[in-house]
Amino acid sequence: MFVKNNQFQKFPNKVWLSSPTMHGEELAWMTDAFNKNWMSTVGENINEAELAVSKKIGCKYAVGLATGTASLHLAVKLAGVKRGDLVFCSDMTFSATLNPVVYEGGIPVFIDTERDTWNMDPAALEKAFEIYPGVKHVVIANLYGTPGKMDEIRAVAKKHGAVIVEDAAESFGATYKGVQTGRFGDIGIISFNGNKIVTGSAGGMLLTDSREAADKARKWSTQSRENAPWYQHEELGYNYRMSNVIAGVIRGQLPHLEEHIAQKRAIYERYKEGFKGLPVTMNPYDGQNSVPNFWLSCLLIDGEAMCKQVRGERDALYIKERGKSCPTEILQTLAAYNAEGRPIWKPMHMQPIFRMNPFVTRQGNGRGTTNAYIEGCGEDVGMDIFNRGLCLPSDNKMTAAEQDKIIEIVRACFD
Ligand SMILES: Cc1ncc(COP(=O)(O)O)c(C=O)c1O
Repeated sequence: MFVKNNQFQKFPNKVWLSSPTMHGEELAWMTDAFNKNWMSTVGENINEAELAVSKKIGCKYAVGLATGTASLHLAVKLAGVKRGDLVFCSDMTFSATLNPVVYEGGIPVFIDTERDTWNMDPAALEKAFEIYPGVKHVVIANLYGTPGKMDEIRAVAKKHGAVIVEDAAESFGATYKGVQTGRFGDIGIISFNGNKIVTGSAGGMLLTDSREAADKARKWSTQSRENAPWYQHEELGYNYRMSNVIAGVIRGQLPHLEEHIAQKRAIYERYKEGFKGLPVTMNPYDGQNSVPNFWLSCLLIDGEAMCKQVRGERDALYIKERGKSCPTEILQTLAAYNAEGRPIWKPMHMQPIFRMNPFVTRQGNGRGTTNAYIEGCGEDVGMDIFNRGLCLPSDNKMTAAEQDKIIEIVRACFD
């Protein structure tokens, strides 16, 4: 760690990456469930939360489920992914985006990232259809609350007759051309995980316009009971339905979504202003067409301003250089001052578990690249962003003074 220990005081209270921000209504609706004894997976909170989310997103049905991952699992099943199917998936994302593909026996083919929004590159997707014609499913995520290039992605998928599953877990409330994310796939999902823009402590919802799909998801999520006087099962079932207590938290949070987005946006803008003059940029978005929810503010260090950094599978080393820094130094320094940053999601094609899966860049089959940044080939965009990027503390409750200190700590890393 380069910043001298006595230069700043440690934060007395940890500054979090993104922690739950409660308001009071959550407790009221949970208490309501308790008082009425709807302490299960049925009740008014679920109905009301589903209604409010479907209205906000602009879809006909929102089905309350236990987690975003469970929602993705049912979405992938509804989309028709079968054992042995290749599925084109976002590469630079949380593994939950594509794990459900594997649950169903599908084989993720990772599609490289573009630099304008840090989401799936439509040109790489087109390339993937050239290399693997006949693929029928695409799973896309909107990273850190920033909508991807939806028109281009949809056009490519349509041209090849593929179904899109949209993972809007991180981007609830973000819009592209005025339309809410979660609407751009044939099926979408959002997450209410504890670190998301609004939370239920856990929870997720599947989003669809199809009555049939919504009914299927409800049935599958409650162990696939048939309409019979006894426990009759004709399909595989899951215990994936949302709890009415969790739904109470979500119901209480939903009126605060726009307020949270405004706070997150202010955090992003304050960082952007505070880092002026440093050799860094913020996570980019298409200001013409999209309004992110600014869930996480991220930094990308200019290539020339990177000090030497080496990452193994579980640890990292760097060599301090004057005027330069790297994600490892900044993250370690923030942690030493009691503030939580994170590395960028490590791309899936770099993960040991997916080492044998295909990976496609806009130049073609990218499997076999080792270190795009160091080799300077610039082709493996996800790897490059992972090497040079990091997520900054982005908590709604962070004060302006705390954020200013974070900015100073980051600045000092470039001394
Ligand atoms: C991109 C993405 N997809 C899916 C998920 C899974 O959501 P959950 O944690 O609710 O299962 C998350 C977050 O956790 C996520 O960030």
